[in-house]
Amino acid sequence: MNAGRLQLKVKRVSSRKRSRDSLKTYLTPASKRGGGPCPQQCPTACRVSSMMADTPPVEFCSDSEDLFGDYDSILEDSSLLAKLDDAEQNERQRNVQTSAQNGDADQPDFTGLRATKDGVQKRVSEDVLSDSILDGLTDEPFEDLPPSQLLFQEQMKESVKRSRLQDGETTSTPSKNTERNTERNTERNTERNTDRNTDRNTERNTERNTDRNTERNTERNTERNSERNSERNTERNTERNTERNTDRNTDRNTDRNTERNTERNTERNREDESKRTSRRSVADQLKRTMLCNAASPSSVSRTAVLKEAVVSEEISVAMQAMETVSSQTTDLGPFFGLPSKVKDLMHKLRGIQTLYDWQETCLNLDCVQRRRNLIYSLPTSGGKTLVAEILILRELLCRKKDCLFILPYISLVQEKVRGLASFGLELDFMVEEYAGSKGRFPPVKRRNNNSLYIATIEKAHSLVNSLIETGRMENLGLVVVDELHMLGDGSRGAIIEMTLSKVLYTSRATQIIGMSATLGNIKDLQTFLKAENYTNDFRPVQLKEYVKLNDSIYEVDPREEDCFRFCRPLNFKYSSGMQKLDPDHIIALVTEVIPTHSCLVFCPTKKNCENVAGMICKYLKEDFLQHRQEEKSVLLQHLRDSGNGSLCPVLRRTVPYGLAYHHSGLTSEERKLVEEAYSSGVLCLLACTSTLAAGINLPARRVILRSPYVAADFLKRSQYKQMVGRAGRAGIDTVGESILILQEKDRNMARTLVCAPMEKCFSNLMHDEGKGLLSLILSLVGLNITSSCDQVRDFLRGTLLYVQQEQTCVRRSLWEEVQQCVDVLKEKNLITVSADGQTLQVTQLGKATYKGSVDLTYSEVLYGDLSKGLEGLLLNSNLHLVYLVTPYDMISQCKPDWMTFFRQFTLLSASEQKMSAAVGVPESFVARKAAGQTVKKTANMEVVSRMYLALVLFSLLKETNLWSVAERFQLSRGFIQTLLSSSSAFCSCVLHFTEELEEFWPFRALLSELTKRLSYCVRAELIPLMEVAGVMEFRAKQLHDAGYKSLTHLANADPSALCSSIENLFKKQANQIVASAKMLLNEKAAALQEEVDELLTLPLDLPRAADAERH
Ligand SMILES: Nc1ncnc2c1ncn2[C@@H]1O[C@H](COP(=O)(O)OP(=O)(O)OP(=O)(O)O)[C@@H](O)[C@H]1O
Ligand SMILES: [Mg+2]
Repeated sequence: MNAGRLQLKVKRVSSRKRSRDSLKTYLTPASKRGGGPCPQQCPTACRVSSMMADTPPVEFCSDSEDLFGDYDSILEDSSLLAKLDDAEQNERQRNVQTSAQNGDADQPDFTGLRATKDGVQKRVSEDVLSDSILDGLTDEPFEDLPPSQLLFQEQMKESVKRSRLQDGETTSTPSKNTERNTERNTERNTERNTDRNTDRNTERNTERNTDRNTERNTERNTERNSERNSERNTERNTERNTERNTDRNTDRNTDRNTERNTERNTERNREDESKRTSRRSVADQLKRTMLCNAASPSSVSRTAVLKEAVVSEEISVAMQAMETVSSQTTDLGPFFGLPSKVKDLMHKLRGIQTLYDWQETCLNLDCVQRRRNLIYSLPTSGGKTLVAEILILRELLCRKKDCLFILPYISLVQEKVRGLASFGLELDFMVEEYAGSKGRFPPVKRRNNNSLYIATIEKAHSLVNSLIETGRMENLGLVVVDELHMLGDGSRGAIIEMTLSKVLYTSRATQIIGMSATLGNIKDLQTFLKAENYTNDFRPVQLKEYVKLNDSIYEVDPREEDCFRFCRPLNFKYSSGMQKLDPDHIIALVTEVIPTHSCLVFCPTKKNCENVAGMICKYLKEDFLQHRQEEKSVLLQHLRDSGNGSLCPVLRRTVPYGLAYHHSGLTSEERKLVEEAYSSGVLCLLACTSTLAAGINLPARRVILRSPYVAADFLKRSQYKQMVGRAGRAGIDTVGESILILQEKDRNMARTLVCAPMEKCFSNLMHDEGKGLLSLILSLVGLNITSSCDQVRDFLRGTLLYVQQEQTCVRRSLWEEVQQCVDVLKEKNLITVSADGQTLQVTQLGKATYKGSVDLTYSEVLYGDLSKGLEGLLLNSNLHLVYLVTPYDMISQCKPDWMTFFRQFTLLSASEQKMSAAVGVPESFVARKAAGQTVKKTANMEVVSRMYLALVLFSLLKETNLWSVAERFQLSRGFIQTLLSSSSAFCSCVLHFTEELEEFWPFRALLSELTKRLSYCVRAELIPLMEVAGVMEFRAKQLHDAGYKSLTHLANADPSALCSSIENLFKKQANQIVASAKMLLNEKAAALQEEVDELLTLPLDLPRAADAERH
């Protein structure tokens, strides 16, 4: 009963009512935390704590808004009120049954009625009711409770259990606190009611109580019990209250309890004595009383009284807690439960003063308040990120839990880390980057603050795995997935699904938020994530979509029959030469907006981007050259510096006109310089591929889609939406427009493209012959999440695949697929299956595979390569190790140029050539290929291509000059950079793989060093600077030359000084660099501190002298 009471309290007053210790963990912002006993000025808190459990008085540090928010939501929670009613009903029935069992079957109606000494009839009936209602609530779990509260309830139950044990209670006390609390509630209500109904009620109550108690006491209480109760209750309550209450409360409570108990028991005894004689008239009197009650209009129902009592108590508690809190601080909760400092930071760091209406609505949604899972979907540029960030801050600051923010690309992760580092520094939480080769598994435990992990899809999966493995999922309060529609994106989609299913299965308390602009089947995703949905079509700047067909512009209008409504003719006078060169009138369309406004031209291929940029500037007037001339020459200089003196010839030609191209062939430094110049208006046009559309916030006044294709594939609706969604810059443009250039042949398909509903997003666990499902099952077994086929099936019921099994499992039923996977895993020696086919266990190879996130297709090959490597590992050069970590999945992306291959091969040392021959690429093979001769002895072409890529990496590590290596191997510098970052990521995977397999111990130290070298393929002195998120080689060189030589230098730098000493570094960027450096420094220092603490902590199981003697 006590526990029941507790649950009711928790539900109503929310998680704010906690002991100081738990408050420290969940609620109190760092700045407010402090040890010590409850200060005297916290009377409400003390009272609440004494109501909730027999724990010492607590202090409440909560925000007013949250208190009321939760409180209000509960008042509106009809389910709770319904539960109260149900519970009351149950209690009635229970009483009936109890009486029946006690032989009261003939008088079932009277069992709920008890006597009180002071004629306050309601009090006793409420005592009974309170307990009964709470019983009902205890037995019936709150399905609608947010997981956090369920968790909290469990914690509270635990703490109550503990406190009981400490108290040495051997019997379940019929809720002395409940009685005490109910008495208090009742007193208060009674007082109120008494004012209204004094005369009538007093009379009736006296009558009713007398009868009821007579009946009950006569039957239940013997004289012996009365006496013993009287003595024992008096003594026990006096003692217990004296011990438990604080000094301040002790006297009052002791006096009150002693007095009350003594009085009550004495009264009962007296009544017992007298009522025994008048038993016969009881039934009559009761009937009379009840009739009287029923007839009385002012009679208040027990439920109503109870509700009122509980509610008024809660209001009073909340009010007083609020007063206490606001007397201590006036700054908790004004900004969606967050301190007003967050609002200031939003303004200062983001320039955001007010939230959009939809953002406010979304943040105030009931399901958001209750921490339910949520999917929200709004058009591009709708401001979705801000809502997620506020929820993250709330989780970090108010609930003191860690958060995981999943973004699709490394560049986006870095951008977010840079953007949120300042928030972390100001609000005292860690921002940790999990991208490329960065990120620790499991993450460092933070004792004093919480972490926000910002991760790519792959890293997020490894992170969740490591948290599950170390039993730390309960610390992960929130997972946010940006671009949730990527669930439908091949193998990456499968990884998102695995991550989210694991979170759902292993931690009910972790909230999941997904956002997207392009979701066609939200219902499926809602079912999968057990999430609510919020959709709005808000866009800060209106988007007008057009298509160009022949010489006319048509507006996209789904209401029109063929979706296109004629808008205007294109009246451009093109010479015949120009018409030939630019048949699509791109020049005419862009010159309508540039250079005053910005323009993005999406092109189907990389080459086309360069061609379009080059073509446009050929026909631009000289005026364009004058526009922001100086800044453009600075940009060119920086582009040259970033290439160690080399400058892309196309950019050299286009940048003076304010134009550039943007695709994956550029190095990340070049891309970044181009993006920054475009954002600041130095460049007015970018010819780009669809990759620019995903994520990076580079809006334009006009977006032109050069054709409805990406390479040879017709655009998908979601791709189209992402591209046109870049049109319209909030705060700058009043309108954004997109123009899709169409050929007559594409007209029909284009109609579907612009008007059809969004594509559906399907599970990808069965993608690529069920690779995702295979690796999911392997990791489930490896992580001990499941250890039998039944459990695997149980887990899979919580996946998107299960929701969509009819559409996705075509060949076999889902359960047949599962069986098939188990067989394959067993065949590959990744798991073992017990004789009865039920128990699954991971093998060492299986463990290494999932721990290293190694694609199952390659795990056997990798094992073979590493084993072979051990036989004759070449250590006087990097080549062999580099070969072993050259990613298998990059092989297909590059065809060797045989002449280059041969030339490079001849430059290798004899031992390197020998090693190459040993892995299967002998000189003779390469020489024959280079000479164009046919090769009799066939070689494994995958191995040959892998060796070619290894040579690229090998050259790069030696000279660190991307440009010259790109030129030598005739590959784009962007590709080489991608190869480098994939290799560093794969190298860390191989390292984790070898860590699980004893036979590979010699690789560990070597691979750990190689990972670092591949991650920062630069001069050693630049590495500490490049560890800072988003600082690339060129910027690192600038910083180094300016005297900022270490992380500490950067972390302590004055941003203004940085700006003045580094050319073309804007204040905002300088601030972000310094903040990121500070964050990284803090992170490193905290990790070291954790290590120190661990080293200095006395082991709990340290054998003592006494133990030694015993042995
Ligand atoms: N309340 C606001 N007031 C002013 N600007 C805002 C507000 N909320 C967001 N923004 C700005 O709007 C821009 C777009 O926001 P955001 O990147 O969150 O869009 P999105 O909905 O995620 O779009 P996409 O689907 O393209 O990723 C950002 O520059 C952001 O700073
Ligand atoms: Mg976004």
